[in-house]
Amino acid sequence: MDKFTFSYPTKVYFGKGSAGQAFEKEHGRMGKTVMLAYGGGSVKKNGIYDEIKTMLAQAGKRVVEFGGIMPNPTYAKVQEGASLAREKQVDYILAVGGGSVIDCCKVVSAQAQLSEDIWDMEYGRGQFPMAGIPMGAVVTASGTGAEMNAGAVITYGEKRWKGPIFGTAASFAVLDPDYTRSVPPMQVLSGAFDTLSHAMETYLGTSDQDNVSDDVALAIMRNTVVNMRRLLVNINDMEARSNLMWDSAMAENGILKCGRLTDFQAHQIEHQLGAYTDCSHGQGLAVIHPAYYRHIVKDAQEKFTRFAKVVFDVDTAGGGVVALENFIKECGLPTKMSQLKSTVEITPEVLRLVADTCNIIKCNPRELDREEIYQILMECL
Ligand code: NZQ
Ligand code: ZN
Repeated sequence: MDKFTFSYPTKVYFGKGSAGQAFEKEHGRMGKTVMLAYGGGSVKKNGIYDEIKTMLAQAGKRVVEFGGIMPNPTYAKVQEGASLAREKQVDYILAVGGGSVIDCCKVVSAQAQLSEDIWDMEYGRGQFPMAGIPMGAVVTASGTGAEMNAGAVITYGEKRWKGPIFGTAASFAVLDPDYTRSVPPMQVLSGAFDTLSHAMETYLGTSDQDNVSDDVALAIMRNTVVNMRRLLVNINDMEARSNLMWDSAMAENGILKCGRLTDFQAHQIEHQLGAYTDCSHGQGLAVIHPAYYRHIVKDAQEKFTRFAKVVFDVDTAGGGVVALENFIKECGLPTKMSQLKSTVEITPEVLRLVADTCNIIKCNPRELDREEIYQILMECL
């Protein structure tokens, strides 16, 4: 194993009914005024909002509502939440939603206690927040693993940039597979593909020495594929949903990253694709991954061969990439840019902008240049 530091700030309440259990244990640590943050309204339709609001009322909390957090949350929405939190003197933020709601709240939490703009602080001065309003996360759509880390992915429209901003990690997270029952099937599968991508991108980073983190990553990948296939048979298979919910958390809680640097080049490309098109994160990844892997498979033959064997039961490195591509098709996920829901037509010009502005990773099997990233994107058109 390479040298690493690991710390873990989030207490997890997993399983049916775990929101009630979490509230019983945690409400004393929430203070009086709780910001209840949520997305575009799914929580009101499926009853989760009423359930949480009742728990907050029973605990005697004053509730400040912060709704309307959009998928791919924007920097403007973060600033709106931070102003509200300051104005209403919020003691605790409860994020109820998928990765977008949770990410938005992580940065709201930190920004609300800063006198300067968090973007300027992180990207301008290279400094990161030391404090924030404490927060908790109730996961209603799984896949990103956002509930178990402090990194948020925010879209800054004016700057044409989608990328990380570090905020506050949740002090506790509720993972109740029942809360994901109403998620549309395509979102369930694209969320799960995001999990698979996190494990693949971590596994393909450096260093290349044998280590337990790789073994765990491969187990998460295999389990994710197995359970996604179970969902193709029955999307309401709750055993599969619960495995996927924990796969999702495991892939992004730092355990797989112990002793290694990560690849995440496909994520960097997808995030900029998202900045220009507002496409779904998991679906963007499904389009980009096979093309990216076709380009780098020769640079990590041994690793791809092991991936092929463990995850897809095929014998060769190239066969593993083909199996991944076939699996994406089997799931009905998009394989071409034209199949993504986008705010603009995805043209070669748009892809040029994506290639010219995305981050380039140095700890992947081979560092790409912008021309090759453009080629990869064009192969997905
Ligand atoms: O907004 P509402 O009405 O709640 O609807 C949401 C949204 O339309 C819906 N949804 C959520 N829970 C539901 C539900 N619909 C019915 N029933 C429920 N129980 O699902 C839609 C998508 O939600 P969203 O939160 O956007 O999806 P996801 O969890 O995939 O999050 C995506 C965001 O997370 C970022 C992505 O870039 C993207 O911005 N990521 C965050 C990461 C992190 N912090 O560690 C890592 C990832 O790589 C990723 O980049
Ligand atoms: Zn992701």
